[in-house]
Amino acid sequence: MCGIVGYIGNKRAIDFLLDGLTKLEYRGYDSAGVAVNCGDEGIFIEKAVGRLDSLKQKLKGRLPNGTIGIGHTRWATHGRPSDVNAHPHSDCHGNFVVVHNGIIENYLPLKQDLISKGHKFISETDTEVVAHLIEENYHGDFLLAVREVLAKIEGSYSLLFMSKFHPDTLIAAKQDNPLVIGLGENGENFIASDIPAIISYTRKTYILNDGDIAIVQKNNVQFVNRQGAPISKKIFHVSWNAAAAEKGGYEHFMLKEINEQPKAVRDTISPHILNNSVNFNELNWNSDFLKNINKIYIVACGTAYHAGLVGKFYIEKLVRKLVEVDLASEFRYRSPIVDENTLVIVVSQSGETSDTLAALKESKRLGAKTLAVTNVVGSSIAREAEFVILTAAGPEIAVASTKAYTTQLILMFMLALYMAQLSKSIPENEIERLINLLKKIPAQISETLSDVDPIKTFAQMYGFNDDVFYIGRSLDYCVALEGALKLKEISYIHAEAYAAGELKHGTLALIVEGVPVIALATQKSVYEKTLSNIKEVKARDAIVIGIAAQGDSQLSNYLDHVIFVPDTDELLIPLLTVVPLQLLAYYAAITRGCDVDKPRNLAKSVTVE
Ligand code: AGP
Repeated sequence: MCGIVGYIGNKRAIDFLLDGLTKLEYRGYDSAGVAVNCGDEGIFIEKAVGRLDSLKQKLKGRLPNGTIGIGHTRWATHGRPSDVNAHPHSDCHGNFVVVHNGIIENYLPLKQDLISKGHKFISETDTEVVAHLIEENYHGDFLLAVREVLAKIEGSYSLLFMSKFHPDTLIAAKQDNPLVIGLGENGENFIASDIPAIISYTRKTYILNDGDIAIVQKNNVQFVNRQGAPISKKIFHVSWNAAAAEKGGYEHFMLKEINEQPKAVRDTISPHILNNSVNFNELNWNSDFLKNINKIYIVACGTAYHAGLVGKFYIEKLVRKLVEVDLASEFRYRSPIVDENTLVIVVSQSGETSDTLAALKESKRLGAKTLAVTNVVGSSIAREAEFVILTAAGPEIAVASTKAYTTQLILMFMLALYMAQLSKSIPENEIERLINLLKKIPAQISETLSDVDPIKTFAQMYGFNDDVFYIGRSLDYCVALEGALKLKEISYIHAEAYAAGELKHGTLALIVEGVPVIALATQKSVYEKTLSNIKEVKARDAIVIGIAAQGDSQLSNYLDHVIFVPDTDELLIPLLTVVPLQLLAYYAAITRGCDVDKPRNLAKSVTVE
């Protein structure tokens, strides 16, 4: 979850490094640093704990002029955030510097061995071991030294190396964490851990795969594998426009991305709907493939896990196959019952979440068919899975996931319809009816977004409460879990979601006068039950804000406030009910003066266990 940048060319490297790090600060921001090769003056290094601005302050009036450099924004894993622990890290003599994203799992024995050989360490990080390993293994050949280091380290990493002895070369290595190379014009090339850092400089990129080593010079980029054998790679043309990686006029990335949901959902739907049927050419499954699947797992973390809970409903309802949803961090440690007749669906916006990637690898090891639902082309999870289907949300920069969630729901809904088509589990006219409702969702999300004032008011009225509860049944409960996470992670209010029928088994003890309860009541099949649960909390003088489908004439009789969303099939209405919950969290965070896009302690992509 750290940000890595590198530049080699004819211009001042520091300018790209600082601009690129600014674009990547969402990937990690407890400290930052840069290193620039200044020829005879040696390698210039500057680091600072805190946001990137702290580093910029330190650099004021002393920007180095070198034309080759590397930079890093950090989310601490080993060693607390500090100047010393910030990257880049160098060897004993400042001849080699390295920046790193991931974890070197065997760094301690390596560090002890290097210390026994006289190396002096100054930081608490795992990364510094790599710098001293390069020094220990360098005998004139930079690439060979890097390969020997990679052979010694274990774990997940993307690494970028620079050497005082090779002012014309940067070397990058990728394992489990993303790295892209941007191909500049007129003798310059760029390296970054994510596309937003380079998109305003070039659209021509190479996406590194696990095991790739890139030798980057200003007029040439070559690839070799760990054994040093040359690799040929295709150029990947980035179609995202530059604005997509910027805020586009909104105050925060999160609000921009909430408002991008109609387009993101539309873009996700359109490639898969043709003549009122669903197609996934990239899967090319058939009825026999499905007949052989006797169990399905959906495995993910955080918001993606909440999307998986909805996906379970879709597949069990439309395809009548058993689905179990599990947290990726739990899945592989509980000896899951997985074999060649199991389909494991992993859901991950970033495609880099370490727990989810590990669960995917374990599933493959156990013989399962694997399908990735992800938003990032060429991500580690996308490349690891046997099958991949992509959301078309575009880059999601805010730490709080919004458009990724709704596009994940849409993709899993279509996947369920596709499976239902193949297995003929529901009549064709029902599939057609659902597809017609699906096509209306983007416009209905737009309609839901058109009236945010009541939500802003609620956020201002209740934004300073210490506790908020979310209740619902069936799919409303799944969405309640997502709504609670949104509020927690960006406004820092303690929020809990409960199955509405579960309250009376304990939690009702916490519902007293003035406690805000968000009650979702859109699932027609359990509406009366939900209504009685709402009456339970009202009887304890809670303040209840209802989320209901347009046309519901009952709820307003019982509730202080009701937010209506357009009516549609109860399978699809989660796409709409989540929107006011996203906005409620956003405006509550604003009310409380929180850093909406970069909430404390969190990072956009959690690439450590
Ligand atoms: C969502 O708002 C959170 N930031 C977090 O729970 C996130 O969904 C989780 O870390 C999974 O990320 P992924 O989808 O990139 O795998």
